Amino acid sequence: VKANGQSFLNLFIPQSFKLRLILILTISQLLFLATIMLVGYSFIGHTIQEQLDKRVMAYKSQFESSIKTAMISLDTGTLHSVGQQAIMLPDITEFVIYIENHSVINEVATNKIPISKLRVSHKVFASGINIGRVDFTISLDGINANKSHIIFTMLLICFFELIIASLLAVLIGSYVGKRASYLVSGIEKYASGDLSFQYEKISNDEFGFIARSFNTMAQNINENSNSLEKLRAQNIESSKMAALGEMSAGIAHEINNPLSIILGKTTFLVEKVKLGLISNENLESELHKIENMANRIEKIINGLRIVSRNSENDLMESVNIGPIIEDSLSLCMQRFRSSDVKLNFKTQINSDIYIHGRSAQISQVILNLLGNAFDAVQNYDEKWVELSANATTETLTISVTDSGNGIAPNIVEKLMLPFFTTKAIGKGTGLGLSISKSIIENHKGKFYYDQYSGNTRFVIELPLVR
Ligand SMILES: Nc1ncnc2c1ncn2[C@@H]1O[C@H](COP(=O)(O)OP(=O)(O)OP(=O)(O)O)[C@@H](O)[C@H]1O
Ligand SMILES: [Mg+2]
Repeated sequence: VKANGQSFLNLFIPQSFKLRLILILTISQLLFLATIMLVGYSFIGHTIQEQLDKRVMAYKSQFESSIKTAMISLDTGTLHSVGQQAIMLPDITEFVIYIENHSVINEVATNKIPISKLRVSHKVFASGINIGRVDFTISLDGINANKSHIIFTMLLICFFELIIASLLAVLIGSYVGKRASYLVSGIEKYASGDLSFQYEKISNDEFGFIARSFNTMAQNINENSNSLEKLRAQNIESSKMAALGEMSAGIAHEINNPLSIILGKTTFLVEKVKLGLISNENLESELHKIENMANRIEKIINGLRIVSRNSENDLMESVNIGPIIEDSLSLCMQRFRSSDVKLNFKTQINSDIYIHGRSAQISQVILNLLGNAFDAVQNYDEKWVELSANATTETLTISVTDSGNGIAPNIVEKLMLPFFTTKAIGKGTGLGLSISKSIIENHKGKFYYDQYSGNTRFVIELPLVR
C-alpha cells in the first residue's frame, strides 16, 4: 500500500530537480498570498465595523443633544428642522422622531433605497425618564462599495505578485537547475569512464565547493589507483623473481646434466674418430644424442628467458600454448626429480591450440601452481603432481592436481587474498595465487580452486583463439 501510495504521489511530483524547485517556490508563494488575503480580509472587516460603530455613536449623541430640549417643550418646528438637517447627513436615509404618548412627531426619508442598511433606534431620557426616541437608518452601500474596492485592489496586487513570483521561481529554478546539471554532467562523464575528468568552471559558492571536492576526490582516486597498479606490477615481478630463485638450483642441475653428457660424448667421439674406430652410423646416432641434449638446454634457456623478462609491457598476442606448457615443465622438472616427487603430464591438446595473451605471464601462473603443489606434497607420504591440459572448441583448461586431499575450507576462503600464506616467514610471500588470479582474469579467463576434486586441484580456463 505504501509503495502504491508513493508511486501515486510520484505521478504529481516532477522528477526534475528544477521543476520541483519551481513547484515548491510557486506553492509556497500561493500559500503566503492566501494567508495575507485572509488576514487582510478579516482586518478590513474589523476596521470597517469599528468605524461604523463610532459613526453610530456620534450620530446618536449629535441627534440627542439637538432634539432633547425640543422634545421636552414639544417644539415641533425645531424637531422638524433637525429632521431636515439629519437627512442631509451622509448615508442617513430615514429619520423618525417619536415622543412618548404622542407617537410619530416627525418622519423624513430620502428617496434613495439602499441595498443594505442598518436601522438604529435610540431612546432619549430626561432626568431618568424616557421621553421619546429617534430612529434612523444608515445606508451601508457606500461602505460595502469601499470594502469591495479594497478587496479587489488586494486581489489585483496578489495576482501580479503571483505572476512575478512564478517568473522568479522559473528563473531561480533554471539557474539552480543549470548549475546542478553542470555538476551532474561531470559526474556522468566520470562514471562512464573518463577518469581524468575535472571541473573547469568553479564558482565560490556551494556548487563550487562540490565541484572542487569532486576534483580533489577524483584526483586522489586516480593517484591511488595508479600507485596500486604500480604495486601490482611490482608484486608480479618480485614473486616471479622469488620463484626463479627457488628454481635456479634445479635449473643449474638441469643444464649441467646434458652439458656433461655432451662434453663426455664429444671427447669420446673425438678419440674414436681420430683412431677411425667408429662407423658412420654410430657417429650419426651419437651426434643425434648430442643434438637432443643441446635441444634440452636450449628449451630450458628459452623457458628462463620467457619467465624472467618483464612482461608487463608485452602486447597481448596469439600464442601457442603447447610450448609454454613444455617450457614451464622443463624449468621445474629437475626440482621435482631431485625431491622424489613424481611429475605427470597428461595432455590431450593438439599442437595448434592458440590463446590470446602474454606467454611469460601464463608460464608464470603454471609455475606458481606447480611450485605450490611441490611445496604441499612435501608433507605427504605419497608425492605426485599432475599437470593436465584439455581443450574444447572454445576453452583451454589447464589444471594442476597434487596428491593432497584438498584444502581446509577455512583456508580456501582466503587462498586468493594477497599476502595470505601458511608458509614459514621468508618461504612464501602469499602472492602467488592472487597474482595468478589477476593474470588469468586479465586474459579474460577463470582461475579457481576446484572444491569438487578428490585431490587438491587448481584450474585455469582460457578462451581459445579461433
Ligand atoms: N596445492 C596446494 N595444497 C595445499 N595448500 C595450498 C596449495 N596451493 C596453495 N596452498 C595454500 O595457499 C596459500 C597461498 O598460496 P600462494 O601461492 O598465494 O602463496 P604462497 O605459496 O604461500 O607464497 P608465494 O607463492 O608467494 O611464494 C599457501 O600458503 C598454502 O597454504
Ligand atoms: Mg605460491
